[in-house]
Amino acid sequence: MMNTATAQPASLSSRVLEKFHSVFAGENPLIVRSPGRVNLLGEHTDYNNGYVLPAAINKAIYMAVGRRSDNELHLVSLDLDQTYTGIIDRLEPSPLHWPDYLLGVIQQIQALGHPLGGFNCVFGGDIPLGAGMSSSAALECATAFALSELFALGLDRLTMVKLSQKAENVFVGLQCGIMDQFASMFGRKNHVIRLDCQSLEYTYFPFDMDGIRIVLLDSNVKHSLASSEYNTRRQQCEAGVRLVQAHYPDITSLRDVTLSMLEAFVEPVDMLVYRRCRYVVEENARLLAGTEDLQKGDLAAFGQKMFATHKGLSHDYEVSCEELDFLVDQVKDDPDVIGARMMGGGFGGCTINLVKESAIDGLVERITPVYRQAMKKELKVYIGEIENGTSLAK
Ligand code: GLA
Repeated sequence: MMNTATAQPASLSSRVLEKFHSVFAGENPLIVRSPGRVNLLGEHTDYNNGYVLPAAINKAIYMAVGRRSDNELHLVSLDLDQTYTGIIDRLEPSPLHWPDYLLGVIQQIQALGHPLGGFNCVFGGDIPLGAGMSSSAALECATAFALSELFALGLDRLTMVKLSQKAENVFVGLQCGIMDQFASMFGRKNHVIRLDCQSLEYTYFPFDMDGIRIVLLDSNVKHSLASSEYNTRRQQCEAGVRLVQAHYPDITSLRDVTLSMLEAFVEPVDMLVYRRCRYVVEENARLLAGTEDLQKGDLAAFGQKMFATHKGLSHDYEVSCEELDFLVDQVKDDPDVIGARMMGGGFGGCTINLVKESAIDGLVERITPVYRQAMKKELKVYIGEIENGTSLAK
């Protein structure tokens, strides 16, 4: 197959272990695997108390940790070949930036009243950075899980999800929703998770698509606008809720807003906010209908909803970009592509495509040169397998 990156999980975990032994003397560390995620439907709905439909994938971070007898932190990023050294009770954001994901989690665990000692840590993985597959959530969840095991804290998965999200909100400064951490922690092999971000109830749906694979087309555009525009979208949604609230005081999020409320109270006041909110309200409805498609085995109908989501994200929510639109446009009339859309926060990263397995090589051969020619960028291709969530690595 052309240009497709293949995962070698066993060798990743042994590379991390080897590095640990070469840097730190002493006992065997414990090793945790924590995956990235895809999301099938439900984009920009999590922070609006709506629904999401993610799954954990075969791209992951492997983290080795071992206790120290002092209160020092020695953190090593294998892929960046960088080391951070600090003290467990003096946590400050680091100029290296990547330690912040671990330090934020340490801070949140301490805030829950769990004392931690010093530890050594080496991590590395194969989740592409900035491609919208949530390498940051995977790193946070790996840290939470590893420390819970190492210090026998007995944290349950939902607690680890919430503290990982809070670490990103507080220590890293991105006001992300709960989807990425939830998917990384609660993933189940060959299933997608429908999560209700209001009640946090979740249901697994089997996603065994005979002869169909998840293909991620990486635009190779790093989402540099993502954090500022992300926070702006949140504010626009909140503005819409306030306009509705003036008439329906009990409503606290777009989850409980209907299209007719938006037409009555938002459209006449602010067209831009109306379009943002309309996308979110429609996306929640689309996701619920999409899970019915899955239950009926109607993948064609499900795929059409992915295309509709892309349209909404591109035209109404405006978080796409030229390259992502180009990639979706290239596949939308291809009978071998069941559905496609941009995935994640937006402004770069990947499109997620459901493609007939027998057609993948041909698709990649066709799109790679036209993408290069039109966008002056190299396409990268990943085949996503749905895997289990964060766990001890074997
Ligand atoms: C990012 C955030 C998630 C979610 C998506 C958009 O991945 O971390 O919480 O909001 O964007 O659906």
